[in-house]
Amino acid sequence: MKRSAPSPRGGFLTGHLHRIRHDVLGLLEESTRDHGDIVRFKVGPLVFHLINHPDHMTHVMIRNRRNYDKASRSSENIGLICGESLLTSNGPAWQLSRRTIQPMFHRSAVAGFVSSIAACTRDMLDGWKGKDETDAASEMMKLTFRVVGQCLFGADLGREAETVESSMHRMMLHTYHRWRSLLPPPASWPTPANLRFRRSLVEVDGIISRLISAQRVDPPETPNLLSMLLHGEDAETGAALGDQAVRNEAITFLLAGHETTANALAWTLHLLCRHPEWITRIREEFDAVCGGRTPTMEDLPKLADTLHVFEESIRLYPPIWAMERRAISDDEIGGFHIPRNSGVILSPYMLHRHPDFWEEPEVFRPDRFLKRDHESYYPFGAGPRFCIGSEFALAEARVILPMILREFDLEAVPGQTIGAEPSITLRMKNGFRVRLRARAMQG
Ligand code: HEM
Repeated sequence: MKRSAPSPRGGFLTGHLHRIRHDVLGLLEESTRDHGDIVRFKVGPLVFHLINHPDHMTHVMIRNRRNYDKASRSSENIGLICGESLLTSNGPAWQLSRRTIQPMFHRSAVAGFVSSIAACTRDMLDGWKGKDETDAASEMMKLTFRVVGQCLFGADLGREAETVESSMHRMMLHTYHRWRSLLPPPASWPTPANLRFRRSLVEVDGIISRLISAQRVDPPETPNLLSMLLHGEDAETGAALGDQAVRNEAITFLLAGHETTANALAWTLHLLCRHPEWITRIREEFDAVCGGRTPTMEDLPKLADTLHVFEESIRLYPPIWAMERRAISDDEIGGFHIPRNSGVILSPYMLHRHPDFWEEPEVFRPDRFLKRDHESYYPFGAGPRFCIGSEFALAEARVILPMILREFDLEAVPGQTIGAEPSITLRMKNGFRVRLRARAMQG
């Protein structure tokens, strides 16, 4: 007899649609508290299981991963933006992309990015001089976008940052709304939402195609992701990527590479404003390691406090707060039946706050990362689909945070409501306004 996982009470026809649309984090929190580590949700005829135990997470992402692919509703919707790419594809297509792109993210390649990350941060900080206040969440979006532009595309995207920030946000919200709708209208229909989405996509596509044309005409001396995609070939098969594939990968990296890190940095600044003792520790560590100079790759392993602060911040606010897989065949997890073709939701946000695996999970305590291995920690995913940009993101954090804090005192503008907006990534709902005060600099 197949045993179904417990399920919270839902509407007769629509199931849990209403709560998913209006308060998805509240629904997940309540459901795991009341029903345990595997909970079944329904949206009309669709069935999803939330998996909230490290053994079950590794079952899906590592041990029995061949039974779980990304032919899921979320990939289908993200695919409206980036098509078939490293993020959305499966099987041999995914393997080809991963093999082709992986060398760009080896530690040695990331070492070459550090000076560009520092230079972009320098420009941002120069722009802050004379300002009393700014929206740190928006600043981080612009900064990480420029960083991706410099490091991965060899281009200065400073002027485009604003267009891309708003277009990307619109597109991400659109795809997320589709994901959590029971019957979204087909993407080809000219509904107002679809038309807005298409306009944003055309804008971002325009930027990508300008970048591609520039690199075709004038290949860079130092290769970057885009030039590698345009001119590279798979080491095993010798196959080159076609134009559409290059466009898809480029937009994927623009998307996956800036929005995630930007949200992580914004949440980190928010947590630091609430825990100024950690600001002092980051400053002292940075001064001891770098003095007044710009950090290099060799300095990064010595910036342990900064790393722990960032790790703790993405424990509490993981930018990818949920991932989805599709069960290819029937399975059983934790004694419960997982039907073929149903969705499985893996949520770092939930597992990172699980009271059985974390002491005082709601408390910001970076020192918990003095211990390295946490079985219930997976902000970058797990298994073969582990985030390809994790080293890059961790390098960005250790360059950007201390550079900001060394030059500025930040204080959260009082009276603002800080809230999480779960979309494809976990954004700060109303941004994060900070007061800026330049610090007297020595050295
Ligand atoms: C704090 C920052 C970041 C976080 C928390 C994060 C998180 C994640 C997670 C959880 C996944 C796995 C998704 C899944 O299994 O369904 C993933 C995959 C991916 N990430 Fe990141 N990411 C970050 C930064 C970056 C950066 C900087 C880049 C690129 C420069 C990047 C590019 C990608 C790509 C292309 C994939 C798909 C990999 C594959 O399926 O083979 N990410 N990321």
